[in-house]
Amino acid sequence: MSRRLLVTGGAGFIGSNFVHHWLKVYPNERVVVLDALTYAGNRRNLESVEERENFCFVEGNICDRTLITELLQAEHIDTIAHFAAESHVDRSILGPGAFVQTNVVGTFTLLDAFRLHWEAKGQPRDYRFLHVSTDEVYGSLSPTAPAFTESTPYAPNSPYSASKAGSDHLVRAYHHTYGLPTIITNCSNNYGSYQFPEKLIPLMCINALMGKPLPVYGDGKNVRDWLYVGDHCQALDVVIHSGQPGETYNIGGNNEVENINLVQMLCQFMNELAPNLPVHPAEQLITFVKDRPGHDRRYAIDASKIKTQLGWTPSVTIAEGLRLTVEWYLTHRDWWEPLLSEEYQAYYRKVYA
Ligand code: NAD
Ligand code: DAU
Repeated sequence: MSRRLLVTGGAGFIGSNFVHHWLKVYPNERVVVLDALTYAGNRRNLESVEERENFCFVEGNICDRTLITELLQAEHIDTIAHFAAESHVDRSILGPGAFVQTNVVGTFTLLDAFRLHWEAKGQPRDYRFLHVSTDEVYGSLSPTAPAFTESTPYAPNSPYSASKAGSDHLVRAYHHTYGLPTIITNCSNNYGSYQFPEKLIPLMCINALMGKPLPVYGDGKNVRDWLYVGDHCQALDVVIHSGQPGETYNIGGNNEVENINLVQMLCQFMNELAPNLPVHPAEQLITFVKDRPGHDRRYAIDASKIKTQLGWTPSVTIAEGLRLTVEWYLTHRDWWEPLLSEEYQAYYRKVYA
């Protein structure tokens, strides 16, 4: 089957990497991106595919039911890869409303429009609604607890993760109630090219390049599981083609690292790859700052289901992925410098006050 995809949030970090992946592997398939171009969306992330005949960018909001209905019909969409979201935990603490609106109401609007479209077409079995979600819905783990599986109870702790949990439940309910062929993926922390400067890894790279402090929250011993974004995109490709409707798949890198260790690894790559750093070695810039409110201590993913059932495993090691990422930020100053806008500086002052 040649698929016709609607990629929501395709101008963001993972969405744009996914569009590049898809058009490389399936160069003749139709890809329509719907993105509201919030502060995190950037047309430049899609520059290299803009001119393709089988690609189309639509600026619009996933809460706009009329627009979505028109798009689904006009473009004969059979597959939605739903990335659009408010994605940053710290921003959800400062202003949770936008998270409920986009992540819950927006996902509902998209789901319901897709349901009617799918029903009007006679409920084709090969249609797909892929909901790209997060491991944060499972809450926080103690240092010795087993990793999250697909049956771990939901216990979201931040407005961001609560809004993603709400959207997961709606997606699940649409399969259970209407038979809509939905799939949910819950993935750990991604890193790689085109990630907005607010997130840990780009923030550390950019601050080191500017000789600014590297702010580590609390005692720096919170643990995250890190996955290279290209591996995530490959996993989503496999899920779209081979995943079972109604199922959930956990996706992870099997790379649990304490934040302070990750920042030290990044500093080592920066010292090696950017010898003209304003402050060298970069480790001198590490500064412990006040903790994030409600900061989850540890996330860990058990990805054995997607491995055994669909044959996916990550291929990029953390050392390879961090090196590639540091190199990307070093060589793409023209991409990130304009993002350090007045709005971004105001946000930064609030979080790191
Ligand atoms: P991002 O913030 O970089 O990009 C989000 C994109 O969605 C942006 O392009 C933005 O303009 C768009 N958007 C926001 N609100 C919208 C709306 N109302 N209508 C249309 N478009 C809108 O996010 P990301 O890090 O690429 O994450 C993508 C998805 O993956 C999210 O759903 C997130 O919850 C999930 N996820 C992220 C990670 C991670 O580590 N970044 C891990 C697991 C899951
Ligand atoms: O686990 C998946 C989630 O990963 C996704 O669902 C989210 O969309 C994504 O933003 C990410 O959430 P985190 O909160 O884990 O990512 P962030 O990069 O903000 O922070 C990673 C860790 O680093 C976290 O423990 C907080 C810490 N941190 C973060 C920043 C920005 C710091 O110590 N200092 C910082 O300045």
